[in-house]
Amino acid sequence: MTSQIVLSFVLVFVYTVTAGNHDIYHGYSVHGVRLRDQADQIVLHKLEEDLNIDVWNHGAPELRDALVMVSQENKREFLATLDKNGMNHYLHLADVASSLKEYDTQVSSWKQSRTNRMPFEDYPRYAEVDAYMEKIAREYPNLVTLVNAGPSFEGRAVKYLKISTTNFADPSKPVYFIDSTMHAREWVIVPFALYTIHRLVENLRDQDRDLLENIDWIIMPMVNPDGYEYSHTDARLWRRTRSFNATISTECWGVDANRNFDINFNTLGVSSNPCSDIYPGHEAFSELEARYIRDVILENIDRMQLYLNVHSFGNYVVFGYGNTSLPQNVVQLHQVGAAMGAAIDAKKLDKAPFYLIGNSNLLMYECSGSSQDYAQAVGVPFSYTLEMAGYEYDFRVPPQYINQINTETWEGIVASARLANLYYRARSRS
Ligand SMILES: *[C@@H]1O[C@H](CO)[C@@H](O)[C@H](O)[C@H]1NC(C)=O
Ligand SMILES: *[C@@H]1O[C@H](CO)[C@@H](O)[C@H](O)[C@H]1NC(C)=O
Ligand SMILES: [Zn+2]
Repeated sequence: MTSQIVLSFVLVFVYTVTAGNHDIYHGYSVHGVRLRDQADQIVLHKLEEDLNIDVWNHGAPELRDALVMVSQENKREFLATLDKNGMNHYLHLADVASSLKEYDTQVSSWKQSRTNRMPFEDYPRYAEVDAYMEKIAREYPNLVTLVNAGPSFEGRAVKYLKISTTNFADPSKPVYFIDSTMHAREWVIVPFALYTIHRLVENLRDQDRDLLENIDWIIMPMVNPDGYEYSHTDARLWRRTRSFNATISTECWGVDANRNFDINFNTLGVSSNPCSDIYPGHEAFSELEARYIRDVILENIDRMQLYLNVHSFGNYVVFGYGNTSLPQNVVQLHQVGAAMGAAIDAKKLDKAPFYLIGNSNLLMYECSGSSQDYAQAVGVPFSYTLEMAGYEYDFRVPPQYINQINTETWEGIVASARLANLYYRARSRS
C-alpha cells in the first residue's frame, strides 16, 4: 500500500469514529420541567420508571427546573402526562444528535488549539488519566502511593492515589475520600479529580499546607473506566457500567453503580428494567466497580471522616438517607455541606445558580443503593453527593469552562476538609 492509501484509510476511520456515533440520539430532545411540589417530582419519577425517560437533572420544587431527555416515540406521551398534571415545560434542546456533533467539534478544536495542556485542563481519556496518576506516584514517592483496586468488567485497572505526609500511619489524622466518574457521561468531573490531585501534590500552596499536615487523602478519579471510554467511542450519554449478563439481558448492558450498593438495595428510585439508567443490578455489589469503593471505605473506616461521591451537574450538595430518614448528626452534616456549597458559590460565575444543600430525598428524589447512603450507614460521619456546576451546558460543558469549574469546586473541597477535620479532632477527644 502506498502511504497515500494508508492515510486515507486512517482519515476514513477517524471520520467514522468521531462523526458517526451520535446517530443513536437522532430524534431525541431535552425538556425543562417546572416543579411546584413533591407531587410533581413523583409524576416525573413515575415517568422515569414507566417510559424509560432519561432525567438529566432532577430539579427541586420552586427552586430549580428538571431536565429530561426523551425519544421521538415517547415524546407525545411524556408531554401529555405533564400537561395532564398541569406541569409547565419548555424545550431545552431540540436535537440531541446534532448538538452532540457540535460539541465534538468544540472539544476537538480545544485539543488542537494547544498541545501541552495538562490533563486537568482538558477531557482526558482513560489512558491519559492513568498516565497522570502513574507520573504523580513516580515523582512524589514520599507523599503518594498508587493502588490498583482491581480490573473493571472489561479489564481496565481501577486505580486510586493515597496522599499522605505520614504514609497513612498516623491515627490522629482523618481520611478524606473522593471518588469520581461513577457515571460515565459526566465528563467534567474527570479534570476536576485530577486538578484536586494537582493542588494537593504538585501545586500545594502555602495557605493549604494544613490540608496535608492534618489530613490523609484518597482520590479515585475514574471509578467506571469502561463506561467513560464507551461515552467517548460509542454513546456520549452513557451513564452506567458496561457489565454483561446474558441471563438478565442480551440487549442492554451495564448497571447504575450508584444504585448497586448494599443499602436499602432495590427498594426506592430504581427500575427493574435492565435497559433503564437506574437499573440497580440483580444483587447488591454485582458490580466490581462498586465493590472497589466499598473496600476503600471499609479498609479506612476507623479514620474516614468525609466521603465525597462526585457527579455532574446541577450545583447540589446532598446527604442521606435516600429514604428521607436523617442521620443522627444531621446538623453537622448539613453545616459541613453548606460550607462546601458556600465556598464554591463565592468563586462561581454570576450566571451559575447557588448551591442547594440538603437531604437527597427531600431536595431531589428518592433513591436506594447509593454509595452516599452506604458510606453514611457503615459509619462515615460526613458522606455527600456533590453535583458540580455544568453552567448552562448540562453534560456538554465547553472545555473553556474546565478551569473555572476546577478552581471553584476546589474551594468546596478545602472548606469541607477543614471543618470536617475540626469535628474529627472533637471526636477523637471524646
Ligand atoms: C447473571 O444474572 C443471573 C440472574 O439474575 C444471576 O443469577 C447470575 O449470578 C448472574 N451472573 C453473574 C456472573 O453475575
Ligand atoms: C432509611 O435508611 C436508613 C439506613 O439504612 C435506616 O436506618 C432507616 O431506618 C430507613 N428509614 C426508613 C423510613 O425506612
Ligand atoms: Zn451522576
